[in-house]
Amino acid sequence: MQDFKNIKEAMIEKLSEANSLEDLETLRIELLGKKGMVQDLMKEMRNLDKEERPKFGQKVNELKNEVEDIIFTRVEKTMELEMERRLDEEKIDITLPGSVTTVGNQHPLTLMTNEICDLFKSMGYEVVEGPEVEFDLYNFERANIPENHPAREMQDTFFVDVERLLRTHTTAIQTRVLENDSDNLPIKVICPGKTYRRDDDDATHSHQFIQIEGLLIDENIKMTDLKGTLEVLAKHLFGDDQKIRLRPSYFQFTEPSVEVDVTCFNCKGSGCNVCKDTGWIELLGAGMVHPKVLEMAGIDNQKYSGFAFGMGVDRAVMLKYGVDDIRSLYTNDTRLLAMFDRFD
Ligand code: FA5
Repeated sequence: MQDFKNIKEAMIEKLSEANSLEDLETLRIELLGKKGMVQDLMKEMRNLDKEERPKFGQKVNELKNEVEDIIFTRVEKTMELEMERRLDEEKIDITLPGSVTTVGNQHPLTLMTNEICDLFKSMGYEVVEGPEVEFDLYNFERANIPENHPAREMQDTFFVDVERLLRTHTTAIQTRVLENDSDNLPIKVICPGKTYRRDDDDATHSHQFIQIEGLLIDENIKMTDLKGTLEVLAKHLFGDDQKIRLRPSYFQFTEPSVEVDVTCFNCKGSGCNVCKDTGWIELLGAGMVHPKVLEMAGIDNQKYSGFAFGMGVDRAVMLKYGVDDIRSLYTNDTRLLAMFDRFD
């Protein structure tokens, strides 16, 4: 039988001579590795009598555990010493200039969306969002645009399957809210979100853009409430001298419907090339929610009425900050985007 005491002492002696992490690793392999000394001892077991084997095996295991513990403790200690040495030796020169970190800022579309949401929140509106991949049901049917109706032509879009599409307007959020809250009136919501159309991209059109929908349903809501609300919005965004103009228009989901213009930001109404000499720039579509839309959502249209509007956030950014091409809001040229840091 081996003299385990002597073997252990010899191993400890070897370990005491190791002074670096590399030395300790070399010794660990030499002592405990697959072809190491402890394994060699194990192999000797087959030369022993059957009765002696368990005791021998136990002794080898004890030896292995002890050597492992010693190596672990030595590694920890060596690492500590190494760290102390480095802290003593290495000095940081705090007088050197630091590396410059560029701080980003909010995208103008985010700025505008937040500005409008904050305004409406201050008037008691709740912000509600909806899915970008939307059911035909909420985007068209519930907005009173049935299948094969010509009004669908103006909002052609990308279909995911026969039932689902990329929503063409935030009116899809409106029809969802009407259905969900039909027994929880009044409704006062502002709904921002990305919208998609199969429009050709040009200076004022993008196949993906942002809209923001406002919806108010209560007893005795009138067109004058809509006008007053939009006046507050226009003045808040573009200045107190702003005027708005309502022009008769047509949407399937509102009756009556209007297009809303604001005084041209460039010429203040006197006429210029930006507003094509009219003094006005179109901002959004709006109207009184169609009684049929209320009925489809299960709301009593004799008792309740309301207004809705849908505004292009991209167009509002262009108007407010004089951006002359909508595409520059999506190509993300940081020279343009960085100019919006002062508005954060
Ligand atoms: C609508 O989308 C209606 N859902 C708005 C509405 C809501 C009316 C509630 C009544 C009640 P329209 O297609 O006109 O309407 O779009 C509204 C605004 O979205 C436009 O005034 C414009 O600012 C913006 N817009 C429309 N198409 C594009 C486009 N391709 N690129 C950028 N902005 C667009």
